[in-house]
Amino acid sequence: MTTEIFQLPKLPYPENALEPQTSAKTISFHYGKHHKGYVDNLNKLITGTKFADMPLEKIITETAGKADKTAIFNNAAQAWNHAFYWRSLKPKGGGEPPSTLKKKIDASFGTLAECKKELATAAMAQFGSGWVWLVLDGDKLKVVKTGNADLPLTKGMKPLLTIDVWEHAYYLDYQNRRADYVNAVLDKLINWDFAAENLK
Ligand SMILES: [Fe+2]
Repeated sequence: MTTEIFQLPKLPYPENALEPQTSAKTISFHYGKHHKGYVDNLNKLITGTKFADMPLEKIITETAGKADKTAIFNNAAQAWNHAFYWRSLKPKGGGEPPSTLKKKIDASFGTLAECKKELATAAMAQFGSGWVWLVLDGDKLKVVKTGNADLPLTKGMKPLLTIDVWEHAYYLDYQNRRADYVNAVLDKLINWDFAAENLK
């Protein structure tokens, strides 16, 4: 029998809170089917194994790059990525980052506009499914992209925020227009406060 080792974390806002940029219908599928599916699959895969007693981050780092643990890694990483993604967004997001983060952005990218441009460019450059991240690497901020379920935790970098660029994140609202989705997120939904919290 599968036990509920990990639970689907609560969405930090109602399903319609990110409208009109992301519809309640998208969130309902993305959170209620995709994210829940990763958590359910992970629980099935690790029931009765040594991974059942580990925190999610440890499962991810223990299984990363191991060919015989790909399914566990993919579902654990996707469970982590989605929980982090929901917190990277907020209703009435966008705008100016808090001053501590803004200073770091200016030091690393020159301007906020340049930082947003790099995030959007990376989102478009990611072929197929994946994620775009603002990360802290040493004492510098960087934009990185990862394919499929992969994430910066396995590369020693500290994620500050992420944007999901799997088609399921935007197809119902934007069809194939990934750039429109990413720019809407960056202008209206991105949660700079969450990124600033993660700097600490
Ligand atoms: Fe997703």
